[in-house]
Amino acid sequence: MNSHNKRAKDILKKTEQVCTPEEVQAAVNKVAIELNERFNHVETESFPLFLGVMGGAVVFTGQLLPKLTFPLEFDFIHVSRYGSEEHGSEVIWKVIPRQNVMNRIVVVLDDILDEGETLAHIQKRLLEMGASKVILAVFGDKQTSAKKPVTPDHIGITLPNKFVIGFGMDIEGYWRNLPDIRALTTDPLMI
Ligand code: IMP
Ligand code: MG
Repeated sequence: MNSHNKRAKDILKKTEQVCTPEEVQAAVNKVAIELNERFNHVETESFPLFLGVMGGAVVFTGQLLPKLTFPLEFDFIHVSRYGSEEHGSEVIWKVIPRQNVMNRIVVVLDDILDEGETLAHIQKRLLEMGASKVILAVFGDKQTSAKKPVTPDHIGITLPNKFVIGFGMDIEGYWRNLPDIRALTTDPLMI
């Protein structure tokens, strides 16, 4: 375990802050305000099912839910994306929704939209499973040059096109617990 301790601390030294804890909190508040506006007054959009994408969305989800002021149901899903140039990217579902999503308004919460393949896949699958509407809310949207296959309905903050950690996002499993967002200052492959 000592080697993990050292590795985690060494990696942290190769990062720089890109969002302060205050900016992170403002981003969570922004999404909460938008969701409250969407669901507080519209009777037809009652009782949505919120699905957090584990594990990256765990902190965002945990801080967002207590700020929401309308009735909702919560569950989590777990997907992993394995990309390869030869086979394209494949999304594997490790935990599928246990609630019936048929005719439900589903709000998917995720940590970060990077290339967008993961959320595009999740949205498509939930619609195939009968969800009446799938709303995507992400803590961060990475500023990539390529066009993304999905546009989130709610975005907390725009993040630079770098590998970032903190507020639920990890590198090698480390530093999901950071209250700020930090970006690697070196190539992720060289870390
Ligand atoms: P996408 O399919 O490229 O949008 O990848 C989205 C998923 O990859 C997110 O849910 C994250 O779990 C992970 N991810 C993407 N970029 C980062 C990053 O910079 N740091 C940590 N995780 C990331
Ligand atoms: Mg993820």
